[in-house]
Amino acid sequence: MGLQFRSLTMLVLLIWLCWWSRIEAQTLGPETTTRALDAILQDFAYRAFVRPRTGIPYDGVPPSNLSGIQISAMRLRSGSLFTWGVRMYKEFAIPVGVIERPYVKRLVLVYQNLGNWSTTYYPLAGYVYLAPILGLLAYDASNLSATNLRELQIRASGEPISIEFTLLTPVPDGSVARCVWFDLNGQQNFTNVMSGNRCVTYEQGHFSIVVESTAPSPAPVERPPPPRHEGGGNSSRGWIIGGSVAGGVALLVLLVLLILWVWRFNKRKKMNQMEKAADAGEALHMTTVGSTKAPAATTTRTQPTLETEYVP
Ligand SMILES: *[C@@H]1O[C@H](CO)[C@@H](O)[C@H](O)[C@H]1NC(C)=O
Ligand SMILES: *[C@@H]1O[C@H](CO)[C@@H](O)[C@H](O)[C@H]1NC(C)=O
Ligand SMILES: *[C@@H]1O[C@H](CO)[C@@H](O)[C@H](O)[C@H]1NC(C)=O
Ligand SMILES: *[C@@H]1O[C@H](CO)[C@@H](O)[C@H](O)[C@H]1NC(C)=O
Repeated sequence: MGLQFRSLTMLVLLIWLCWWSRIEAQTLGPETTTRALDAILQDFAYRAFVRPRTGIPYDGVPPSNLSGIQISAMRLRSGSLFTWGVRMYKEFAIPVGVIERPYVKRLVLVYQNLGNWSTTYYPLAGYVYLAPILGLLAYDASNLSATNLRELQIRASGEPISIEFTLLTPVPDGSVARCVWFDLNGQQNFTNVMSGNRCVTYEQGHFSIVVESTAPSPAPVERPPPPRHEGGGNSSRGWIIGGSVAGGVALLVLLVLLILWVWRFNKRKKMNQMEKAADAGEALHMTTVGSTKAPAATTTRTQPTLETEYVP
C-alpha cells in the first residue's frame, strides 16, 4: 500500500511539473515573438526594394495586422558603410568604422519604428516608455527576395551609433529618463540619455527612452490603446497566466480527490481480498492439518494479522 501511494504521489508531482513547464513556456514567449516580428518586418521591408539604389532609404508597408509600425530598408556596400557611415538614417546617425560580421559585400539596414506596438512586443515592467521602440538590424543583401534571414552582427569600432528620439514625451517631474537597449536575445540594458533625447549604442538592436513608473503612475501621454485579443498584449497575457494558474490549482484539487477515492477503493478491495484469502487459508489449513506443511501454516497465520492492521 505504501508503495502504491508513493507512486501516486510521483504521478501528481509529474503532472504538476508538466503543468508548470507549460506555463513557463508561455511566459518565455516574448523573446521568440520579437524574433518572429523581426523576421516579418525584414520580409516586408525588403519588399520595398524595386531596383534599389544604394544609400537611399526605402519605406516599406508592414502587413495590415501590424499597422502602426513603420519600416524602412537601406542597401549599402559594406565598404562604403565602413568608410563613410550614414549621416542620418531616420533617427539613427551611423558613424564611420561600423563593421559587420560575417563579412558581406552588400548589406541592408532595416529600420523599425514599433509605434503603438512598442509595449505589446517589448513590455518592460516597472517602466513607462517616453518614445516608441526604434530598431536597427543588419542583413545580407545578396538575395533581396530572401526571407527568414539571419541578422549580421554589426559593431561600431570607433564612435558609437547615435539615436535621436524626436517625438519624446516630456519627462515627468522628479523622474530620470534612461535609454533602454534590447539586444537580439531580448537582454535589456540601461544607459544614460545624452543631451535630453539621444541614446548611443555600439551594436544593433531595439532602443527607446523610459522612466521608472512610480506607484501613482505618471500618466503616460503616449499610451497606446488597449491591445486587442489577437495582439496578446500585456494585460491579456496576465489574464492567460492567471487563468492557467487557477486552472492548475483546480486540476490539482480534482486530482487529489481522485487519488483519495482510488486509494480508499483499493484499500477496501484489498481488505475484501484478504478476508477471502483468510477464509481460503482457513479452509486450506483445515485440509492440510494432517501433513502439517510449514509454509501453508505461516501464510494463514500472517494474513489475519495484516487484516487487523488495516481495520481501525
Ligand atoms: C500578420 O501577418 C503576417 C503576414 O501576413 C503573418 O505572418 C503574421 O503571423 C500575422 N500576425 C501577427 C501577429 O503578426
Ligand atoms: C496601432 O494603431 C493602428 C492604427 O494606426 C491600429 O490599427 C493598431 O491596432 C494599433 N495597435 C495596437 C497594438 O493597439
Ligand atoms: C532568394 O531567396 C528566395 C526565397 O528564399 C529563394 O527562393 C531564391 O532561390 C533565392 N535566390 C538565390 C539566388 O539564392
Ligand atoms: C549592460 O550594462 C552593464 C553595465 O553598464 C555592462 O557591464 C554590460 O556589459 C552591459 N551588457 C551588455 C550585453 O552590453
